[in-house]
Amino acid sequence: MSSQDDQHNGCGAECFGRRVFLRDAVAAAAVLVGLSALTPMQQLSALELRRASGLVHYPIPAADGVSIDTKNEVILARSKGEMFAFALSCPHQNTAIRALPGTSGFQCPRHKSRYQPDGTFINGKATRNMDRLAITRDGATVVVDVEKFFQSDEQPKEWVAAVVKL
Ligand code: FES
Repeated sequence: MSSQDDQHNGCGAECFGRRVFLRDAVAAAAVLVGLSALTPMQQLSALELRRASGLVHYPIPAADGVSIDTKNEVILARSKGEMFAFALSCPHQNTAIRALPGTSGFQCPRHKSRYQPDGTFINGKATRNMDRLAITRDGATVVVDVEKFFQSDEQPKEWVAAVVKL
């Protein structure tokens, strides 16, 4: 991610630091407890088709559910005819967010912030919704820009628009 992109996204060095922190935390935890214990959602990396310039293509799942791409730190969710891509890290202090059973939403394991299936904040220590990544449809796939994410408090219009209607 370039510093220009950081500025465009309104997050500067904080974003880079957050991604590095999260990546290191995930790697360390994976060594200690095993990746499956850390990421209870379906692993998505095998479904990744290609990545170029920050763009990652994912097949559109046939049914509602949540998957995770730990390599690119993306949560991909289908819920009630809509597709969302979220940053894996909690907007409070960057802990990897987990999916609640079924499509009932998300919860951060660190301070228990809870979010609706569309990423809307419900309660807890976080002060904004889950960060959404830019997402578009391309035929039977969705294309996620892993370098461009939107914070609901600073970019509310972009956050609302970051959805694919199926
Ligand atoms: S780090 Fe997620 S609620 Fe604090």
